[in-house]
Amino acid sequence: MPSLKTIQAPIATELKKVNRVIRQALSSDVRMLNLILRYVMRSKGKQMRPTLVLLSAKMVGEVSEATYRAATLIELMHTATLIHDDVIDNADTRRGFLTLHKIWKSKLAVLIGDYLLSRGLLLAVNEDDFNTLRIVSTAVKEMSEGELLQIEKSKKLDITEKTYFDIIRKKTASLLASCSSAGARSAGADDDTVKQLWDFGEAVGIAFQIKDDILDYEGNHTGKKTGNDIREKKITLPLLYAFTQVEKNEKRKIFKLLRQKHKTQEIVDAVIEFVHQNGGIEYADKIMAQYTQKALRLLEPFKNASVYPQMVELVQFVTTRNK
Ligand code: IPE
Ligand code: IPE
Ligand code: MG
Ligand code: MG
Repeated sequence: MPSLKTIQAPIATELKKVNRVIRQALSSDVRMLNLILRYVMRSKGKQMRPTLVLLSAKMVGEVSEATYRAATLIELMHTATLIHDDVIDNADTRRGFLTLHKIWKSKLAVLIGDYLLSRGLLLAVNEDDFNTLRIVSTAVKEMSEGELLQIEKSKKLDITEKTYFDIIRKKTASLLASCSSAGARSAGADDDTVKQLWDFGEAVGIAFQIKDDILDYEGNHTGKKTGNDIREKKITLPLLYAFTQVEKNEKRKIFKLLRQKHKTQEIVDAVIEFVHQNGGIEYADKIMAQYTQKALRLLEPFKNASVYPQMVELVQFVTTRNK
């Protein structure tokens, strides 16, 4: 079974350094800010993004100071977007703890997210890392567009499979693509290699979000509440497919449940059951596997790199994880 521990083994020292820089970046003279930042740092998450930055750099060359800054900036930015995303999605828990906005209200969550983002950007600005800044700013733009498109679709419930892929490519895959390409760039890779690793990261990212959407229908250890996509009227791949398997009448019934303002646990369970009964999970699994196959194909030119096995394991972890 792929595990984060073995994936991160060849970059454990580097990852520690990234975490040191993150801790340093997250201190402030404002007492309230410090208190909340300490709460944010209580739980680190999987650190998939800095892992991908560091492994990508190692796969094509040497980890440089610019690699550390890219890894740190991206993790700070990711943490910021999770805080904002939880406000948008009205989520109760994150990484096993209450979300910031549940404890301190949305005003503070918005500001803390902005603070993390700006501290991350400053790390790169102070060193004139324009390559990293360009790659990462593009990803944030895409992420916001993806989240907005998702909100639009959850209002009208008129999402298609094509739009679903559009959304996840933008909101999730573009940041993972930034990780692998910025990592490669920071180690001095040429344009072709950077592009190839962008495509690799994008394929990993699409598979990653499909898995996240599957985990919302299953018992999991993500530290997030199951069924939140249903509560928020987010139609993801498993449900989209289940709809194609039934008559209009049954589809209408589920739509009615989704539209209920206050969804009881029974309503959420009924939609989960509907997806499981109609092959939604199997279908999403199958599509996800196509993207991991693509990612593995894109990795082949790097077969001789010392961290190639860890990269392969990272791809496998994306689809087998339960956290
Ligand atoms: C959650 O990302 C947001 C998505 C893009 C699905 P992660 O699952 O990587 O979150 P952490 O950092 O490990 O908590
Ligand atoms: C990813 O989508 C959100 C971001 C791009 C930040 P989700 O809304 O599904 O992520 P989780 O499930 O809350 O982590
Ligand atoms: Mg969310
Ligand atoms: Mg999710």
